Amino acid sequence: MTETNLTVENTKKEAKECVNARPKSFKIIGTGSCVPSRAVTNDDLTVFLDTSDEWIRSRSGIEQRHICTTETTSDLAIQAARNALENAHTSPDEIDMILCATISGEYICPSMACLVQRDLGAQCPCFDLSAACTGWIYLMDTAAAFFARGGIRKMLIIGAEAMSRIVNWHDRSTAVLFGDGAGAAVLEPGENYLASSFVTAGGDEVIAIPTKNVISPWFEKKEKLPLVFMDGQETYKFAVSNLPKRVDEVLSKAGLREEDLDWVVPHQANKRIIDSASRRLKGVPEDHFCVNLQKYGNTSAASIPLVLDEWNRAGKFRKGDLIVMVAFGGGLSSAACLVRW
Ligand code: ACO
Repeated sequence: MTETNLTVENTKKEAKECVNARPKSFKIIGTGSCVPSRAVTNDDLTVFLDTSDEWIRSRSGIEQRHICTTETTSDLAIQAARNALENAHTSPDEIDMILCATISGEYICPSMACLVQRDLGAQCPCFDLSAACTGWIYLMDTAAAFFARGGIRKMLIIGAEAMSRIVNWHDRSTAVLFGDGAGAAVLEPGENYLASSFVTAGGDEVIAIPTKNVISPWFEKKEKLPLVFMDGQETYKFAVSNLPKRVDEVLSKAGLREEDLDWVVPHQANKRIIDSASRRLKGVPEDHFCVNLQKYGNTSAASIPLVLDEWNRAGKFRKGDLIVMVAFGGGLSSAACLVRW
């Protein structure tokens, strides 16, 4: 009798432990990236814009960017996805979901994720999300929610942009800042997604990218050009105040301190914005802010996974490292997430 009771108790305990041990989120098991082959230097831009290498470098830190010549946004997404799958030793048939963040795909429908799925020969649900430069953090959080729901073995997430499709090449205040590229990661169940923080200040006054103009014969309202509009100074102010706040928030949610961080992976928009964040986050050494914007410019949703892949392949991240990813941009929006490598 006693033995039976003990067995029942043990079974309950084991069942509880089993439930508690179920991974609540994910871990990153591979990364990949891709940029177009054509590098365009600051000097190349002076041929048709009233600008200079000195102005662009000193105001933004950007030295060059990669720009599509024959590649489409989905070509970049597909190659980044293939590189991530290879890095994760994963085949497309193991993928249970593909999510993509983009604001510059060649189609509204089908989604970029569907184009990637077809090319890979994967069989799984796919969709895109649109959150401009904070897109990668939204991808990570959406992925975490799907993993928490259960039933996903592996997921492929991709940030892909061809900003050159939507930049106004006559506007020197924005054209010099952006570039094209894609980054991807493969995720599997784990407990390495620790916290996130999101803030949105909705509106189109500071950053706006209108869609294709209406061609209906009945439409009478004058529309803006379907190209990037940005008030640089307002974006700058929003970025420098929000970036450190989001980092503080995710650390506080996870019960950790700045000193516990190994790496900060910020959105690659402007070196001055990153330097300002570095001055505020004194607990993290300056050289632990991952920066590659000098080579690629601002690639919007692709910017964080592009750096992530570069640091991963260079072997800079060690297992167990604590990494915060933090972004800001159109929306206006700012977001951060904390992961254990
Ligand atoms: N070359 C030369 N001169 C230029 C250029 C250029 N490419 N662009 C602007 N200027 C001039 C301006 O006309 C202005 O001249 P003026 O004083 O005679 O009027 C002068 O340079 C100063 O311009 P500012 O806009 O005040 O320059 P600032 O120091 O603010 O730097 C910048 C501009 C780099 C855009 C900065 O404000 C910035 O980085 N903002 C944040 C942008 C960002 O991070 N965006 C990310 C989100 S984007 C998204 O989500 C899609």
